[in-house]
Amino acid sequence: MGVVYVFVNQKGGVGKTTSAINLGAYLAGAGKSVLLVDFDSQANLSSGIGVRSAKPGIYELLSGTAPLNQVVKKTGISALHVIPASIDLSGAAVELIDQKEREYFLKKALTPLRNRYDYIFIDCPPSLGILTLNGLIAADAALIPMQCEYFAMEGLSLLFKTIRRIQKHLNPSLVIGGIFFTMYDQRTRLAQEVVKQVSAYFRDSVFSTIIPRNVRLSEAPSHGMAISQYDPLCSGAKAYQSLAMELLKRGKPGSAGGPAAGVSILAPEARAAVPAANTGGESNHGA
Ligand SMILES: Nc1ncnc2c1ncn2[C@@H]1O[C@H](COP(=O)(O)OP(=O)(O)OP(=O)(O)O)[C@@H](O)[C@H]1O
Ligand SMILES: [Mg+2]
Repeated sequence: MGVVYVFVNQKGGVGKTTSAINLGAYLAGAGKSVLLVDFDSQANLSSGIGVRSAKPGIYELLSGTAPLNQVVKKTGISALHVIPASIDLSGAAVELIDQKEREYFLKKALTPLRNRYDYIFIDCPPSLGILTLNGLIAADAALIPMQCEYFAMEGLSLLFKTIRRIQKHLNPSLVIGGIFFTMYDQRTRLAQEVVKQVSAYFRDSVFSTIIPRNVRLSEAPSHGMAISQYDPLCSGAKAYQSLAMELLKRGKPGSAGGPAAGVSILAPEARAAVPAANTGGESNHGA
């Protein structure tokens, strides 16, 4: 049974899509079978990994108008497959509103694929709407990319509140797979400060690899390539490779030993660990 990770952060442009593509590519390179699910009508993941025909894709799968074998597409990396999205997915958000069990559509659609892949990565849009909700319910664990900015910390509080609600009512087995920093610029004091504070608060849930700001990472998708194909020696490539190895080492979310398993945001000892003044938003982390 594979592991389903959802890349989530309601803040836009923090590196969800870039991370899903590049972690997926490195895990595939390490011999794992990986399925990327583009769950954003912007369809950045689909174009970023070089998928030309985005239809039928995830919308058609959800709406029952195309079977699984038609929506799963190959990429330039043999063990890396993708279910693409198109702008049609924006309609799904509206159509789902009136449906019974509307939060479970993605989970049901992905169930037959779970034993075919080691990893399934869901790339969410920048919102906490019905699509992201479906992503969080379909997943075993959430991976949270964040930029090293003040507002990013504020956004994290809201995200964790949402995750807590989902854990309580809709997906009790959901855990935090980890938080990682993206687009890090070591020259700024603020970036260093954000890393320090978030790491102090979330401790083992924070990956030790930090993704630097690197222009090659922003160029790769315009060539439809993962960074491992486009420029495997650049600093961004090395960082994503290292992050992928960390993810591998952490093991299955929920399994013994993996820190990813342990860090339920419900853990009171984690909340107590950091004084309110340190987080700038501690009160929002209370259960
Ligand atoms: N480490 C990095 N260094 C430089 N540019 C980056 C880096 N990571 C991502 N980018 C670029 O920043 C932009 C936003 O990244 P990305 O699309 O991955 O974020 P996102 O969270 O998926 O955005 P959205 O919320 O719109 O879906 C893209 O143009 C991407 O190429
Ligand atoms: Mg994106």
